[in-house]
Amino acid sequence: MLGTVFRAARGTKDIQPQEQKYWRYVEGKAADLGRRHGFKRIDTPTFESSDLFTRSVGEGTDIMDKETYTFLDRGGDSLTLRPEGTAPVCRAYLEHGMHSLPQPVRLYYFCPVFRYDRPQAGRYRQHHQFGVEALGDGDPIVDAEIVQIGWTLMSDLGLKDLSLVLNTIGDLKCRPGYIEELKAYYSGYNNRLCSDCKQRLEHNPLRLLDCKKESCQPLQDEAPASADHLCDECQEHWDQLRHYMKVMNIPYTVDHRLVRGLDYYTRTVFEILPPDEGAQSTLLGGGRYDGLIEQLGGRPTPGVGFATGMERLILNVQRQEVPVPEEEGPRYFIATMEDKGAEVALDLAARIRRTGVGVIQGPRGRSLRGQMHNANSMGVPQVIIIGEDEVAAGTVTLRDMATGDQKTVPQEEFLRGLEED
Ligand code: HAM
Repeated sequence: MLGTVFRAARGTKDIQPQEQKYWRYVEGKAADLGRRHGFKRIDTPTFESSDLFTRSVGEGTDIMDKETYTFLDRGGDSLTLRPEGTAPVCRAYLEHGMHSLPQPVRLYYFCPVFRYDRPQAGRYRQHHQFGVEALGDGDPIVDAEIVQIGWTLMSDLGLKDLSLVLNTIGDLKCRPGYIEELKAYYSGYNNRLCSDCKQRLEHNPLRLLDCKKESCQPLQDEAPASADHLCDECQEHWDQLRHYMKVMNIPYTVDHRLVRGLDYYTRTVFEILPPDEGAQSTLLGGGRYDGLIEQLGGRPTPGVGFATGMERLILNVQRQEVPVPEEEGPRYFIATMEDKGAEVALDLAARIRRTGVGVIQGPRGRSLRGQMHNANSMGVPQVIIIGEDEVAAGTVTLRDMATGDQKTVPQEEFLRGLEED
């Protein structure tokens, strides 16, 4: 009997060679957009001290309470696999004294993210994010730029019919008063709340607003809105941001139920949603987090950013049948006959590759027909045949797989042609 057949761990997946073109496509568009906005790439470690996330994402959030992968290392330190990218970037900003650079510091990242979530379409336990963060500037025009990047990314990717939802959740000055209003409102309906919402009312009242249970929806619709309870500074920020949205001509709706699942947000929050999908499938989410760096031990430093799930972007690119460029494969396949031919091919292949052109050496000991078949299935457009005659004469026979045309030329002449290409 065979041993256990291993499979990828639940909620994780391989990115197989045939899927890579989607990843390169999305990464390419995202990185180029980052570059055009003057963002620089940063990579942070896969795990961090657990306290970093407890202090930022926040105790009482689903992510910290139910979804982190936390472990003690052999030295007894508690570490957590990154459940999001913002806190690590803020930690790096502090650690490397980036406050002394011109502000805002604009950073972007691609990274795997780990959440012990219930796996389903577009929801994984390891997913990958592209994120941008602008640190050190509280101006709402920076919020506008961040929203603009998110929105432009979608159109650069060729995605259509998406919607942008915006909200403000105030700051430490005005939010406590709003939360009291919210609690007072919900307390009146305690008997209509789902069991999760009863907990939320106690521990995280803002999250009452984005409960997905059908029975809780009508209560959300009527709930007090944070935008109606802003202090003067938050109101001014909100008014300016909406003005800039008009200037940028980006369509959006305001949804007072949008609060996001992480504790660090202040003022602006936003999401981009795909057409006809539940909130489960949010494509991109972000907002402002002006208190976060201070919470992590730094001087008060504002910040704003977003992250988007690569898997979800790719899912939508595929669903919307966006044409994605094929990755360039090797141009040549060398089919050889007999051992001497294979030896010649070994050297010839190395010389071809030095010119920058891709080539695969065919398997030894198979018939010419079999090797042609191989080349065809791999989609290689040209086969170089090195049989007995070619070895003897120092030539190569080139076969165009599409037309079947063949010609024999001296090896050196063929290589010269490649160099001149
Ligand atoms: P988030 O909304 O938790 O925000 O995640 C950002 C995006 O990651 C989501 O919109 C979604 O596309 C994707 N995502 C989240 N969870 C999963 C999952 N289990 N499977 C697949 N994709 C998923 C943040 O993480 C914040 N750090 C965003 C941010 C950056 N805010 C400010 N700066």
